[in-house]
Amino acid sequence: MYSEKVIDHFSNPRNVGEIENPSGVGTVGNAKCGDIMRIYLDIDNNEVIRNCKFKTFGCGAAIATSSMATELVIGKTVQEAMEVTNLAVMEALDGLPPVKVHCSLLAEEAIHAALWDYAQKNHLVIEGLEEPKKEILS
Ligand code: FES
Repeated sequence: MYSEKVIDHFSNPRNVGEIENPSGVGTVGNAKCGDIMRIYLDIDNNEVIRNCKFKTFGCGAAIATSSMATELVIGKTVQEAMEVTNLAVMEALDGLPPVKVHCSLLAEEAIHAALWDYAQKNHLVIEGLEEPKKEILS
């Protein structure tokens, strides 16, 4: 039911933890299941994401998607990171079971929330970025 990549990222999640003095931090919860994801970003002066860490209090699919999302955004510019959608994360994991698709939305929203925090702190506008939801309702 789960791909090998999902099992791998769930069993050995990459980039777990916190970043001290992050450039941006975002926390998003899912109102239905109660799972919570927090993403920390370290962004250099050229707007490149140097490092990304996560803490997820949630299901296995949420942990696997957070882990994959951190790997996908590291090394990207903030604008490129906008392309790391839940679909991109799911594709990189070779898919998720339909009932677990909502878990991948947490990863997308948490990245957006961290980018939003970074943009707010630095008075920047990131194209296509809207104020993220604190809570996902589906
Ligand atoms: Fe809540 Fe997966 S069941 S994020």
